[in-house]
Amino acid sequence: MNRQLQEYERWRAEPQRFWLEAAQALHWTRTPTVGCDLSDAPNGRWFGDGELNACENAVDRHVAAGRGEHTALIHVSAMTHSERRISYAQLLDEVARLAGALRRLGVKAGDRVIIYMPMVPEAVFAMLACARLGAIHSVVFGGFAARELAVRIDDAKPTLILSASCGLEPGRVVDYHGLLCKAMEHANHQPSHCLILQRPQGPATLRAEIDIEWQEALRDAPRVDPVPMPAHAPLYVLYTSGTTGKPKGVVRDTGGYLVALAWSMPNVYGTNPGETFWAASDIGWVVGHSYIVYGPLLQGCASILYEGKPVGTPDAGAYWRIVEQYRVTTLFTAPTAMRAIKREDPDGKFMREARLDSLRALFLAGERADPDTVRWAAEKLDRPVIDHWWQTETGWPMVANALGLGLLPIKPGSPTRALPGYQIEVLDSEGCALPPNTQGELVIKLPLPPGCLPTLWNDPAGFHAAYLRAHPGYYTTGDGGHIDEDGYVHVMGRIDDVINVAGHRLSTGELEQALAGHAAVAECAVIGVADALKGTSPVGLVVLKAGIGVAAGSPAAATLVAELVRRVRDEVGPVASFQRCHVVTRLPKTRSGKVLRATMRAIADGRPFDIPATIEDPAVIDEIRAVLEVRHD
Ligand code: COA
Ligand code: AMP
Repeated sequence: MNRQLQEYERWRAEPQRFWLEAAQALHWTRTPTVGCDLSDAPNGRWFGDGELNACENAVDRHVAAGRGEHTALIHVSAMTHSERRISYAQLLDEVARLAGALRRLGVKAGDRVIIYMPMVPEAVFAMLACARLGAIHSVVFGGFAARELAVRIDDAKPTLILSASCGLEPGRVVDYHGLLCKAMEHANHQPSHCLILQRPQGPATLRAEIDIEWQEALRDAPRVDPVPMPAHAPLYVLYTSGTTGKPKGVVRDTGGYLVALAWSMPNVYGTNPGETFWAASDIGWVVGHSYIVYGPLLQGCASILYEGKPVGTPDAGAYWRIVEQYRVTTLFTAPTAMRAIKREDPDGKFMREARLDSLRALFLAGERADPDTVRWAAEKLDRPVIDHWWQTETGWPMVANALGLGLLPIKPGSPTRALPGYQIEVLDSEGCALPPNTQGELVIKLPLPPGCLPTLWNDPAGFHAAYLRAHPGYYTTGDGGHIDEDGYVHVMGRIDDVINVAGHRLSTGELEQALAGHAAVAECAVIGVADALKGTSPVGLVVLKAGIGVAAGSPAAATLVAELVRRVRDEVGPVASFQRCHVVTRLPKTRSGKVLRATMRAIADGRPFDIPATIEDPAVIDEIRAVLEVRHD
């Protein structure tokens, strides 16, 4: 029997023992004696009597074991053409001093600290320094606009914000400090201070009262020791898009998360201490938290922090040259990055030119990996291409082909089988289990394994409503799909109003809120339509208020659309890639007022569609077809 299947059976037989054994990979200041405490069912609390520190496990432990000279982080910037290697001993020094500076500024265990930074090593130091103090970090992705940052500031109520003067995107310098200032103008909550890392590519003018220059804050800062934290203490809050316009603060506990990551590094990713692991993502996303920062460092790997893109910085060979130069063993990226590379280099010329012998496998996640892309990459790389399925809420993969346990046959289009900890089922909308190969809602039987969210920040009721209410005894993933006769899970896409644009998760509700705020808009809908590069791209449909006097298709409508596009960019952020919007006279709705999104999506994607019998006015479909059937890719 394959070892992944054996491990799964071992977990099913004795789940508590399975995870208590896995917990031995960490250093605990108080070793846990219980795995999952179910006294607050359906919520489970992992390793309730354990105590540990995340930073100590990721950094100090390796130095104490005599591995201080090994490389911990390699910052590779395609934007500044620079490289910086940081050993575990240097990382410890940086992090212990930064923690000392934060403590001097009043940060203590349980406080929140927002980190709004580009892909620079200081962002990782910041996360680990918070963890060292037991403070809860909340990293906000740089591609969000000031308003989105403001919403997170008001929800997390940080003691401090750590930011940088600028980020670097191809062709432009992103004014992080300016965006931070604007966000603080919108926010009700104000942090006591902001620590600003000055970058020479775009220095900021600091505000006298509140900003402190990073190096200034570090001057004479004492080195502080890690603070032992209860296993269930939150390590971080990471906001993600839900079905409403308001982002959800996913809480991550400390002990369960570290145990899950420590288990996944050798077993799922097949990675050993001392090897180079590269998750080509951003620290603003869950992939960055788990597999740029905590996972590789727990395992004593060298982790690459890449500031650049898969293409255009300068070309589609960027990834492969990095793999060659740093002897990367495990590469993890989003399918959209692979599609971008395939588009520029369909014959895989750059892959052939680089020496890729260190590379064991390519892992893909963040959105559905289309079989064509999986096959193309597998053929050109001559390596396993491993699709795996997870989400911000789970913190680590739910379904994967576990490289470290011996691969199962790969079926392109499926991320393979459930990992230990996850009992995945397919239910219909009434909660009835569906037979193999039947499409339904993908759910996880409770309790969730270690690593998964215990709750939402400031919103335990919202946690129940969003994830546990629909199907009692199960966690609702929000994804639809089926399980085949071999137990392989096939994830077909979201069944709610969340969309995935180039591996970035967005809520259509958030985009609609930005459109609806325009004075001319009476009502609107945003749908995600298929996009050859980004997987999905958002398309807006707006109905104007009576008396606005702008006819659909007129030059005035084009001007208005440009305003709306700008508005979404300013309010949600460039990451939404919102470029397509149409003025229509009406939205297609049922008689009870429900907008027919699925019908519109099918029209835009050129799929067969049904017009529900309950439609308010079938004639409206002609106008929607006229605007949506025009291909834009
Ligand atoms: N800070 C500020 N702005 C950012 C940003 C950041 N950290 N990240 C992205 N943006 C901006 C980009 O500059 C771009 O702005 P523009 O409209 O002015 O060009 C916009 O957000 C969209 O960015 P992106 O999604 O990167 O699209 P792109 O067209 O520049 O590149 C891909 C396309 C496919 C190369 C790119 O989307 C990609 O690499 N995707 C992989 C995503 C990923 O790793 N996801 C993590 C999950 S594993
Ligand atoms: P995020 O929380 O940003 O990681 O996005 C999670 C969502 O991305 C999931 O709910 C899925 O819709 C999608 N997703 C992630 N990985 C995969 C995958 N391997 N296959 C299909 N969809 C995926």
